[in-house]
Amino acid sequence: MDNNELKKEIENLKKELDVTIVAHFYQKDDVFEMADYSGDSLQLAQIAKDDKNPYLVFCGVGFMGQSVKILSPKKRVFMPKVACCAMARMIDGEYYDINVAILKEAGINKEDILPITYINSSAEVKAKVGEMGGMVCTSSNAKKIIEKGLQSGKKILFVPDRCLGQNIANMMNLKSCVIGDGSDPKESDIICYNGFCSVHQQFEVEDIEFYRQKYPGILIVTHPECPPEICDMSDFVGSTSQIIKYVTALPKEQKVAIGTEFNLVNRMRKKNTYVLSSTKPECPTMNETTFQDLYDVLKSIKDKTYINEIEVDDHVTKWAQVALNRMFEI
Ligand code: 13P
Ligand code: SF4
Repeated sequence: MDNNELKKEIENLKKELDVTIVAHFYQKDDVFEMADYSGDSLQLAQIAKDDKNPYLVFCGVGFMGQSVKILSPKKRVFMPKVACCAMARMIDGEYYDINVAILKEAGINKEDILPITYINSSAEVKAKVGEMGGMVCTSSNAKKIIEKGLQSGKKILFVPDRCLGQNIANMMNLKSCVIGDGSDPKESDIICYNGFCSVHQQFEVEDIEFYRQKYPGILIVTHPECPPEICDMSDFVGSTSQIIKYVTALPKEQKVAIGTEFNLVNRMRKKNTYVLSSTKPECPTMNETTFQDLYDVLKSIKDKTYINEIEVDDHVTKWAQVALNRMFEI
């Protein structure tokens, strides 16, 4: 089937089935346009959890579908492609335990740590964090969650994104370090695991200098997964939905260069909007989901063959749910 035929079939299946389709902003345009709701990680988790339809199709990356299943275990959650975010893959339960042990060796006991995991992590890691008294955050609420965590008087162990952890620490004038960077973690308020997003590492100081030189007065807007030196030089740093809100409110003639995933920036691209990179900052895993995959998963619901259904182990669900709900309570 070509894309036009697929589009008709998808629209028909949507009418026939009690299904809600949600898509993250980084999805390809054709998939994105079929969604009933789009949003950032926090918005989508909220929408999907409260949605009344029995079937949910999540167009995004693995941890997003998993989070909905954890929050609403009775809901049947499907993904057109179960593609795993490269950053989330950088830490599993075993690595988490190893890093807690490294901190113990450095003189910081488990009881003195409050762990916070970025939502871009596996259910297993969220469960470890929940069991240790910690919580989940997203890029749009990380500052608030870390502030709350610090009220415990403990040190924050922030996993897996070192950039988000360091950026929030800088914003709050707190001391941070990355495990293994040679510094003494006892001297830091926020101790970050050494994970990162390869897409957001592509933005460079030279890109910002290039745009500022070429278009004096241009605004630089970036996602907090970018390295600290990039965020420090930016005029605005925010989650995907915060970026869209900020850029949309700018006057038409204001030039802006945006440092986040290509599909989102390209959708916003008009005369005065630029991609803050000389390369194409595409997220390989977000881009794995195709129009055909979306059709196939909907068809499987209709045929009751159910492909790519998300399942999470009961023990993991219990503790990961605790960690996610602590975030929603805040
Ligand atoms: P947002 O929560 O800002 O949408 O970020 C998700 C993500 O994966 C960014 O790379
Ligand atoms: Fe993961 Fe980075 Fe892709 Fe976001 S952009 S889904 S953090 S790999």
